[in-house]
Amino acid sequence: MAITDTLRQLREEVESTLAGLQDTAGLEALRVKVLGKKGTLTELLKGMGKLAPEERPKVGAEINEVRQWLTGKMDEKQAELRAAEREAAMKAEAIDVTEPRKLPKVGSTHPITLVMDELIECFSGMGFEVMEGPEVELDHYNFELMNLPKNHPARDAQDTFYMDDNIVLRTHTSPMQARAMLSRKPPIRIICPGRVYRADELDATHSPVFHQMEGLVVDENMSMSDLRGTLEAFAKKLYGNDVSTRFRPSFFPFTEPSAEVDLTCTACHGKGCRICKDTGWVEVLGCGMVNPKVLEMCGIDSTKYSGFAFGIGLERIAMKRFGITDLRMLYEGDARLLGQLR
Ligand code: DAH
Repeated sequence: MAITDTLRQLREEVESTLAGLQDTAGLEALRVKVLGKKGTLTELLKGMGKLAPEERPKVGAEINEVRQWLTGKMDEKQAELRAAEREAAMKAEAIDVTEPRKLPKVGSTHPITLVMDELIECFSGMGFEVMEGPEVELDHYNFELMNLPKNHPARDAQDTFYMDDNIVLRTHTSPMQARAMLSRKPPIRIICPGRVYRADELDATHSPVFHQMEGLVVDENMSMSDLRGTLEAFAKKLYGNDVSTRFRPSFFPFTEPSAEVDLTCTACHGKGCRICKDTGWVEVLGCGMVNPKVLEMCGIDSTKYSGFAFGIGLERIAMKRFGITDLRMLYEGDARLLGQLR
């Protein structure tokens, strides 16, 4: 075959191979096959020796022209393939930052902690300071200084767990009143949140472990109206202005006079429902004017100072707040339930 024909054929072949190429690796193979040391075109150049001398320049020029053409075509194709390959790689490696990720399961604040935090914030805003104390308490603070001497009948209502004759698991946060008065000078304005214990069976309204928040104010000229005003402010701040407080006379050895305080049931707004047992009211705390005898036992001059105290049941508040009728729901640790009480 004449060299010219071979060259034309080569051009056609290369052109059709180039058109079908998918990647740069294939292009490299083609380059080697045509332009490499033993490539088609290189072999043609080597064969020039066999030609008649006068033919050589013409054929040489023809081969060179084809080589230039081929190189140009291949370079062009190479740029095209590289661009496509880069784009494909970028697509494959791309991260979709908008894709929603799987969130790890996180816990939620326990309803009791939530209520406790809210009360702390509320009373802090009124100038109360948080004071914490031991859950394992001396009988002396838990009972004696709270005017509940040994054999006092009111002790029956607060049977507890005894470590020994003189050490108990505290039955209320009230011993913190004594600890505060013995360690500070009036004016005293404290709240004491914490866990308390009683030897009660667990049922819908009782638990051997529960939570209270004690409040104590000791200053000159404290009166029942200061107590009422404080608790009224607390109720309104926590539940809004349409909540009322109801004071019922009661008895506690450490306060005189004493009262129990009900708040309007927020579930039915006072109409009556199962949460308030159709009364329209929910009892949330005990309170009173600090018994002068307690002030004196705790080293406070009762002729100069007076005080008021209150003990809030946090479970009561949480149950009212979340519309729970069974106390046990708060302790079973069912994450599906607890996650809903926010
Ligand atoms: N400590 C009482 C109880 O656990 C509650 C209480 C009543 C606390 C009257 C007080 C108070 O500070 O003044 O039942």
